[in-house]
Amino acid sequence: MAEPFLPFTRPTFDEATLAGVVDTFRSGWVTSGPRVVELESALEHYLGGDRRVLLFGHATGALEEALRVLGVGPGDEVIVPAMTFAASANVVLRVGATPVFVDVDLDTRNLTLQAVDAARTEHTRVVMPVHFAGWPVDLDPLYAWGQRQGVHIVEDAAHAIGARYRGRPIGSFGDLVCFSFHANKNMTTIEGGAVSLPLDHPEWIDGLERLRFHGLRKNTDGSYEVERAAGKHNLSDVAARVGLGQLSHLDDFNRTRRRLAERYFERLESNPWDLGLPARGDAGHAWHMFTVRIPFEKLGFDRTEFQARMRAQGIGVGMHYPALPPLALYHERCAWQPGQFPNAERIGRETVTLPLFPAMQIADVDRVVEAIGQALVNPG
Ligand SMILES: Cc1ncc(COP(=O)(O)O)c(C=O)c1O
Repeated sequence: MAEPFLPFTRPTFDEATLAGVVDTFRSGWVTSGPRVVELESALEHYLGGDRRVLLFGHATGALEEALRVLGVGPGDEVIVPAMTFAASANVVLRVGATPVFVDVDLDTRNLTLQAVDAARTEHTRVVMPVHFAGWPVDLDPLYAWGQRQGVHIVEDAAHAIGARYRGRPIGSFGDLVCFSFHANKNMTTIEGGAVSLPLDHPEWIDGLERLRFHGLRKNTDGSYEVERAAGKHNLSDVAARVGLGQLSHLDDFNRTRRRLAERYFERLESNPWDLGLPARGDAGHAWHMFTVRIPFEKLGFDRTEFQARMRAQGIGVGMHYPALPPLALYHERCAWQPGQFPNAERIGRETVTLPLFPAMQIADVDRVVEAIGQALVNPG
């Protein structure tokens, strides 16, 4: 009998979460309410207890409003890695500022302080490091640099809930740290996101609360004032109830992800196909994705063909991501020339995302590795 299709990602929901969702429906209150407050508190506790967490409808909205609360707008520049999802750069454009791309490290896929420093101009207001696939950017030197330069850091931690940098959870320190709880993330609220903020910036907390919901400021007598034409980014209680169930398993999920990633390393470390493995990181890696580079040019066929050969063997393979500067929206704006971001462009051409999610077994990793051998027509 053919084995079931193995997708590259799939969320895991337990029965208690499903029952909790039904209870939330039955409670009669399904949009933002007590479950949102509960999940915000639970995330604050998870992050060590001295941060404020605000839930959003998605990380894209959280990132956009994080820039807005810092006053970033026309004439300002935000440094963004050339290898990330489009959302990281789009939010910069949406507030009227200019994304300035920097190349990334070939193995970690993360931006480097050296590249950030070289890209800094008098217009730089923010650096947006992306913790690619859950491996934290080297934050201490970046924050120290930001402080010296008067530049804020808005962390795109979409991949990094549960990741740790030098033992500290991502989001437990720093300026504005934005998580995604999209369905393919390490914990999900189906769609959703959050900002983690320091308590000693009440103006950011207050500003984001209003940017999250129509610009409303509530008065003590129950009336309200509208202070700006803000958007609407609130999360529903139904989604928050899903998140509460997910958060209770997050560390276990991430431990399983790490075990599976270790198996990929064991099986692929010495391979005859010249695959480029990702940086191994340490126990702080959240292993949101396991991405490898395949030298398609040398092999004489392309990624689409590879994905089709894997699919024919019952295995889903993703692609995260094309480099951003060559894409239509950005290439004229940043006057992109081929080869300008050599590592990001090479990753964009060669990367594939192998299956990795908590319900997978070690045997599934082995099956993926065997299928890769078949798909690449093992020269050995
Ligand atoms: C690096 C990065 N930033 C931002 C986002 C946007 O997250 P969301 O879908 O929650 O808006 C994503 C989504 O995949 C992402 O990968």
